[in-house]
Amino acid sequence: MTTNPMLPLPAKLRDELVDHFLCLSKEDLRLRFGHALALPSIVAYVDDIDFDSDGVFGVLDGEVRLAGVAHVAMVRSNAEFGVSVLPAYRKRGIGSALFARAVTFARNRQVDALFVHFLAENAAMLRIARKARMRLARYGGEVDAWLDLAPGDAATFAEACAQDQLALFDFTLKSQFLAARTLMGALHEASGGLAARWV
Ligand SMILES: CC(C)(COP(=O)(O)OP(=O)(O)OC[C@H]1O[C@@H](n2cnc3c(N)ncnc32)[C@H](O)[C@@H]1OP(=O)(O)O)[C@@H](O)C(=O)NCCC(=O)NCCS
Repeated sequence: MTTNPMLPLPAKLRDELVDHFLCLSKEDLRLRFGHALALPSIVAYVDDIDFDSDGVFGVLDGEVRLAGVAHVAMVRSNAEFGVSVLPAYRKRGIGSALFARAVTFARNRQVDALFVHFLAENAAMLRIARKARMRLARYGGEVDAWLDLAPGDAATFAEACAQDQLALFDFTLKSQFLAARTLMGALHEASGGLAARWV
């Protein structure tokens, strides 16, 4: 079980997804989408996500903001994976954990293969693909990576269920800590420091 709980994101969090992508640099947007998307294109991309069929997963930071996001788009009998992690949270296994969650999601949807398209210079994505033993095909500066999937079974359904429960618990805990911190901050300001002595 991963130490990065990954929350399935509902359609009502589209604005939070846009905010996440806006926190990426132009270079990161280029690596994520193949070119540096401007705001209208980011909004259009997020608007087009079909939350009923696709999987969208987020890793939350302590402020309950999206530190990492994966989109698993259903494309006919395959699934396409896209991922982004904010720079401050990289190299902690979040991208790999989101990839593993995408594999479980896709297997449970009984799709044949998981596909990732990325720029050949993208060392982190290449590493994730190689670790997963994906089939790689390089075309100039771009790479298509394919992972054939076994059909989902009782174990993958149980794993997805456990992951979702863990993520929900993580979300609840972080939300309550944030609310408590906000309340204490407000009390502290209102009482000129008196509240701090009660913490
Ligand atoms: C790709 C990305 C999601 C990876 O996220 P991450 O949370 O840092 O990934 P992980 O921590 O799981 O690292 C995965 C592997 O890549 C390696 N890695 C991470 N960043 C690396 C870098 N800049 N150069 C070389 N290797 C790197 C890690 O060491 C790890 O290898 P290991 O498992 O052997 O230790 C992140 O770099 C990102 O958001 N990039 C911009 C968007 C993008 O490129 N998306 C992918 C195209 S869809």
